Amino acid sequence: MYLCRVKTAITRDLNKVLEALENGFAVGIPTETVYGLAANALNSEAVRSIFTIKGRPPSNPLILHFYDRKQAEPFIQEFHPELEVLERVFSPGPITFVVPKTDLVPSIITAGNAQVALRFPSQPDLRTLLSKVAFPLAAPSANKYGEISPTEASHVLRQLDGKISWVLDGGPCTFGLESTIVGMEDSLVTVYRLGSISLDDLSAALGYIPKVKNHASDVSLAPGMVKYHYAPKTPLRYYSREIVPKENTGYIFLSTVPEGFPVNRSCVLSARGDYREIARNLYRVLLEMDSRDFEELYIERPLPEGLGLTLLDRLNRATAKFQ
Ligand code: TXA
Ligand code: MG
Repeated sequence: MYLCRVKTAITRDLNKVLEALENGFAVGIPTETVYGLAANALNSEAVRSIFTIKGRPPSNPLILHFYDRKQAEPFIQEFHPELEVLERVFSPGPITFVVPKTDLVPSIITAGNAQVALRFPSQPDLRTLLSKVAFPLAAPSANKYGEISPTEASHVLRQLDGKISWVLDGGPCTFGLESTIVGMEDSLVTVYRLGSISLDDLSAALGYIPKVKNHASDVSLAPGMVKYHYAPKTPLRYYSREIVPKENTGYIFLSTVPEGFPVNRSCVLSARGDYREIARNLYRVLLEMDSRDFEELYIERPLPEGLGLTLLDRLNRATAKFQ
């Protein structure tokens, strides 16, 4: 039935969303990072519909969402003490743990991998929902494969209208970038995706700088797959000082519009230059600028430190298509 066109509505009614999930349908859900496309992780038909709706290759595994460790216990074999350190500091919140799975996790979730990715979100409406469901929620970001992740309920509607019944409205996402994904390699924490929790924050909690193997930014691990992602439809390129203002072009700056650039075609991500605010606004501003029929978009490059590293990761992928 999910393949038929359905009427998509934004709702605040948790019970409607709960009922759809219990009946094996995928729904849009708020999280503190980005909106997700959630379904019952133990219902293979429901999980398959996530891949179909997103147009996502089945080789790309999904994250399980739980209320707490107790709910997750039957699905994981072990939780390394180093990951426990991070869990105590950052969970519930925007951090995803890759850990050995039990047989209860269907292989469609992990794309055949022996490890499963899971997280404990902090978004209050999602937490209420998670406290009521009798199964884990599998949820990738609620965008079409390769496109920009949604950070408001209306963005989900824009991308997935007609493909799901409900989007639970939890307001704008407070972080605005995907979760940071961590796992264990040689008894050391390794980062698989830079995210809402910066490398500096992880290092401060761990007492060492974890290795970054940034392969999990929705890019399939299969060889030959494209390296770009998070991309708008309008060609997006990095702004630099040599760039002069052009017609039919939109500009996204970090904190100030440089002299001579058209204010009505420019957006500022954070007037105070605060990187958390820049992160919170980035996808929304990209989506808005993408819908304004510009021929080209330019964006200022964030500094390569703290959350700036995550922003650069996403923007390098978003601009890769257009270089
Ligand atoms: O913030 C988030 O994590 C959001 C919200 C909705 O929770 N979810 C999200 O899911 O970003 P998705 O599917 O768009 O990205 C999940 C990433 C994928 O790139 C995938 O490769 C990686 O997590 N992943 C999933 N399972 C994994 C595993 N077992 N080992 C390594 N990476 C894994
Ligand atoms: Mg994604």
